[in-house]
Amino acid sequence: MGRVQDQVAVVTGAAKGLGESIALRLAEDGAKVVLGDIDGPGLAATATAVREAGGEAVTVVGDITEEELAAQLIESAIEHYGQIDILVNNVGGSRNSKIWQMSVEDWDYTIKLNLRGTFLCTRAAVPHMRKRSRGAIICLSSGAREGTPWTAYYQGGSAYSTCKAGVHGFMRDLALELAEFNIRVNCVAPGPIDTERAGASLRKLNETVDFSPDRMTPLGRLGQPHEVANAVLFLASDEASYVTGHTLAVAGGR
Ligand SMILES: NC(=O)c1ccc[n+]([C@@H]2O[C@H](COP(=O)([O-])OP(=O)(O)OC[C@H]3O[C@@H](n4cnc5c(N)ncnc54)[C@H](O)[C@@H]3O)[C@@H](O)[C@H]2O)c1
Repeated sequence: MGRVQDQVAVVTGAAKGLGESIALRLAEDGAKVVLGDIDGPGLAATATAVREAGGEAVTVVGDITEEELAAQLIESAIEHYGQIDILVNNVGGSRNSKIWQMSVEDWDYTIKLNLRGTFLCTRAAVPHMRKRSRGAIICLSSGAREGTPWTAYYQGGSAYSTCKAGVHGFMRDLALELAEFNIRVNCVAPGPIDTERAGASLRKLNETVDFSPDRMTPLGRLGQPHEVANAVLFLASDEASYVTGHTLAVAGGR
C-alpha cells in the first residue's frame, strides 16, 4: 500500500521541474494523478512516465491562470475518478528586475502567474472536498517569501517574493477557513532547487557571486527535486493528518 493509495491528486505545472517530480512521487505512492500544464508535449511525457511506472494519469493542457481552464482541470478529476483528495498548486515563476527597472508588465505577469492559478484551482476544488469532508491542499511557496539574498542582490526578486509571501498568507487563512471541513492546507517552501529551469543559473551564481546559494545555505548545496516531492507527499498523506496551516521549508536550512 502506498502512502496515498487510490487517492486522486491534481498537480499543476506537471510538465517539468518540481511539478513533474511531485506527480511521479504521488503516483509512485498509489495516487491517480490529474496533471495540468501549458506545455502539452512536456505534460504528455510526464503522463507516459507515470503510466510506465504502473500508475494512472489524466492530462489537461492550457493556461492555469484562465478561469475556464482551472475549472476544467478540477472537473476532469471528477469526471474520471469521481473525487479529488489532493491538490498541489505548483505553477509559479518570475520575471526578475531591480525595482527601479521593473516594468508594470513584468510585475503583473509574476503576480498573476503565482497567485491566480492557485486561487482558481483551490476555489474549484474545495466544493468537491467539502462534500466528502476530506482534502489536502499543498501550495508551493518559496524561501523567497522572506527574501532570498542571491536573487535580491543580483537579480531583483521583489515581485516573486511578494507572491510567495502571498501564497503563504493565502494558505494560512484557508487552513482556518477549511479546518471544519477536514480540509488541510499547507505550503512547501523550497530553497534553491536544481531543476531544469533554475539549476543552471543557481550553479552559475555559486561560481560568480558572494551571496550565492551554496554559501548562504547551511547544508551548502542545491536541493534536488525529489527532496521537495517527498515533503509534498508527506503533507498530502494521512501521516500529516494533524498538520494544517504550516509552511514546511525544504531549503537546506535557510
Ligand atoms: N526551482 C526552484 O529552485 C524553486 C524554489 C522555490 C520555489 N519554487 C516554486 O516551485 C514551483 C515549481 O518551480 P519549478 O522550478 O519546477 O518551475 P518550472 O518553471 O521548471 O516549472 C513550472 C511548470 O509550470 C508550467 N507553467 C508555467 N506557466 C503556466 C501556466 N500559465 N499554466 C499552466 N502551466 C504553466 C511550465 O510549463 C512548467 O512545466 C513554482 O511555484 C516555483 O515558484 C521553485
